[in-house]
Formats: sequence, structure tokens, C-alpha cells
Amino acid sequence: MSEIIKRPFFYDITLRDGNQSLKKPWNTQEKEIIFKHLTELGVQGIEVGFAAASEMDFEACERLSQIAPDNIVISALARCVKNDILKAAESIQSAQKQRIHTFIAMSPFNMEYVLNKSPMEVRKQAIEAVQFAKETLGNKGEVQFSVEHFGDCIENIDFVIDALKEIVQAGATVINLPNTVERTRPSIFVSLVEKVYNALPKDITISVHNHNDLGMATATTVESYFKGAVQLECALNGLGERAGNTNMYEVAVALHNAGVDVPLNLSKIYELALIISDMSNVKIYEKAPLIGPEALAHRSGIHQDGAIKTKDMEKGAYRPIHPSLIGRKDDEKLGFTSQSGKTAIYEIISEAGYPITLGEAQRIAPIAKEAAEKIGELSTRHIIDIYYNNVLTVKGAFKFINMEKGDGDNIRLEFKYKETPYDIIVAGNGPIDACIKAIHKAGFDCEFLNYEQKALNMGSDAIGMTIMYFKAPNGTTIISRGCDENTFMANMKAIFNGLNIIENMKNY
Ligand code: KIV
Ligand code: ZN
Repeated sequence: MSEIIKRPFFYDITLRDGNQSLKKPWNTQEKEIIFKHLTELGVQGIEVGFAAASEMDFEACERLSQIAPDNIVISALARCVKNDILKAAESIQSAQKQRIHTFIAMSPFNMEYVLNKSPMEVRKQAIEAVQFAKETLGNKGEVQFSVEHFGDCIENIDFVIDALKEIVQAGATVINLPNTVERTRPSIFVSLVEKVYNALPKDITISVHNHNDLGMATATTVESYFKGAVQLECALNGLGERAGNTNMYEVAVALHNAGVDVPLNLSKIYELALIISDMSNVKIYEKAPLIGPEALAHRSGIHQDGAIKTKDMEKGAYRPIHPSLIGRKDDEKLGFTSQSGKTAIYEIISEAGYPITLGEAQRIAPIAKEAAEKIGELSTRHIIDIYYNNVLTVKGAFKFINMEKGDGDNIRLEFKYKETPYDIIVAGNGPIDACIKAIHKAGFDCEFLNYEQKALNMGSDAIGMTIMYFKAPNGTTIISRGCDENTFMANMKAIFNGLNIIENMKNY
């Protein structure tokens, strides 16, 4: 394995490769906004544009090099042709750290069918272009050379390495190895990178530039770093030709997680991702790693359970980082589907401000699951309705009809059990005590343990909630609730809900 001696050098290509892929490329003003964000993010190099591509891009390169901080490398792209190189040099002349980035394809396929040139002609053109760029810049800057389609240079890697040795002698100090179209497996690409790294002098910076056609660009870039590629060419939001370039955030976080000292302000990532999505008109895919709206969502019961148990810990059971690392403020989100469980019910109801126990959540989870099987993910409103209809109103054999004061301490309770009416008179110490006594007198067995009353703010009005504790036939404690503006009615509802919960348990 190659020895790692340097911190990663993040070279941003959003304003060049990212920009050239947009339906409406950015103008100078827009580029300037993004440029400032990039400096705040703390990247070490910025490819500001392809100066020869259009007047607008030339102007943008000029402007950005004028406002560039002294410590950031400012680079402009140029084909291996004199006019491009002159334009690039002219456009970045105000920057303190200037770089011309010139490139030509060296894969057998591209040399033959696109450039229509022999390998020797290509090599000559590359060497001459680098020499010319170096002469043009003088000691004001440096030259980066890219082997376009390097990922397709498996068969002619020895030719490429020989050419690169001469290109380095001609003055290039940064050698960029692009996977221009991602066709090559990460491990094969990385082994090619390692070969180049071992073949060139150690003061040459090896760089990688991976496109994401098969979705492996981050892996390829990260692993290339561990084989000697110090410069990592990445784009914000993974913007770039076709399926994009390597996503800067993913590489930064993957390296951070691997214990590498990443020279970026990671806490700026999330906010920047939203800005770039807005400015590029390229939506963030729901499931995009780290920044997607769904990237912190859990729907399976097992994942929900793990997520909640580790919610406040830096390392979560089912997330790669704590969201705050990238400046993300939203918590892990639980959605309730037919795959979810009691934890989601408990969290969603609690979050909505209603009291619930895990036991109650477990009791209503099957009802919610049945609904979710038919319609998919349930809205919070739907789950609250289930809570109202099954926790605050428990259907069953017992129905409260009326309770009124009789002579002295006597109280008269009317209720139904399976449509049979009961009309019982007992003496009691308040309505709760009297009601329980009347139920016992009617021949029903229920062991009442305790009760509490609280005011609840549900919506605009405060209402009363009575919470009853009964002993269930299986020895467990049952909680039942009753809610009403009238405390007496809240008590009655709580008692009859409790009786029905116990009865339903018997029938289960
Ligand atoms: O993808 C590529 O090969 C490029 C080069 C210009 C570096 O963008
Ligand atoms: Zn590219």
C-alpha cells in the first residue's frame, strides 16, 4: 500500500464540469455566489471554467480570479491547443495561485475514433501543450495535465505512463487521472492509479477525477486517495456531465469517517447542498446519501427501534454520521407503514403532543398496520385518528349510559354489557369510587389500582384527561384514558375504556 503523507487536496469542479452539464450554465454573477460558498467550505483548488468555451465563461474566469483568496489555487481548463491555453492563462492572470489544466484523451478507443490520431501524435501534442502552458505561465503558476479516459487505458497503461514521464519533464506538476466515463471497476481503476503513483516522482501530485455513470465514483475516489491520489476532483451535489462527477460531500464524509483529517468545513455541507440544488435547478434525489430528504428516514420496525435507542448518540444504529456533522438540523424521521412497529407510533404520537405509553402504542400498532397495508405510509393525522379511536375511545362490550346522584351518598349508574342494561345504585366516595363499586355489584370483576387527572392542551382548548390504572387478568397493569371537557365524563370514559381493554384482552 502506498504511504499517505499528505492531507487530501479538494479541487472543486462544480464551476467547470458541473456547469457545463447544466441546462442553463451559470453566468458570472451566479458563479461568483457559488465561488464564495466554495471558499467558505474551504476547498483548496477551484476550476473556475473553460475560458475558451464562451465569452461568458472567459469573463467568469477573469472575475473569479480577481476576487480569489491568495491561498486557493485557481485553475482554468484548456484543450491541448495553443488558443485554449492562451485564453486560460489570460483569464486567470489576477489570481495569486494560477494553474492551467490541459487535457487530451489517451485511451486506444478515443485516440482512434474521436481524435483520429496515433498514440505518438497524441503524446507529442500533450508534451507540447504542457511546455507551452508552462512557458505561458512562467513562474506565476503551475500546469495540470489530464489523461482523458484514463479509466479506459488498461491495455495501454505502459504507453500512458511513459507519456506521463515526459509530460512531467515538460513541466506538469499535477497529473490528473479521470474515469471520464465510469466503465471500470473501482479496484481496477485504483490499481491503475497506484501504478502511475509508483512510476512518477514523489513531488508530483496525483489527482483523480471520477464520473459517476455507474454510481461508484465516491468509492473510486476514496480508495484512490489511499493509493496516493492526494488531489480529489469533486463537485458540489455531484453535478457534472451525464450522471455527474464525484460528490464532494460523500468523499469528505467517507474520509472523515475513515479517520482522515479533512480540510473542509463539513458543517456547511447541508446548507450548501440546498443552495446548489436551487441554483442549478437539479433536484436532490430523495434518497441521495447524506443530503436527500429521505436520508434520515426509517420505516422498518427494527430500524426504528435502533434509531430511537441511539438517537442522541454520536454514532447512530442506522446512520453513517450524526446529522449535525454536516449542519443538518432535522432529526431522524420515522414513517409508519405496514413494515413499522410500536416505536414509530409512540414517537409520532408523542411528537404530536399526545400522551401515550409503549404498551398503548403496541396495542394500536396492528390497527395502524392494517390501515397502512391498504394505503401505504400513514400521515400523522391518520395516526392521531387511530389514537383517538382506539386509545381515547375503546370499542367493546361495555357502554356507559348515565350516572346520577341519588339520595344521600347514593349514586345510580346505568350501563350496558353486550346490550344487557344494568341499573345499579351504590354508595360511594365520589364518582370514580361509586362507579367501580357499581360495576363490582353488577358482578363484573375488575381490579382498579389508581387514577390521575391532567389538563391536556389538544388543539386550541385545554381539556381534561383521566388516566386509570387497572390490573389485567394476566397480572399486568393496564392504562386507560378518557378525555373530555367535563372532568366527570373524562372519568367515566377512562373507566369504560379500561373495562373494554380488559374484556378485549380476555377475548383475544
Ligand atoms: O471527465 C474528464 O475527463 C474531464 C477532463 C477534462 C478532466 O472532465
Ligand atoms: Zn469530467
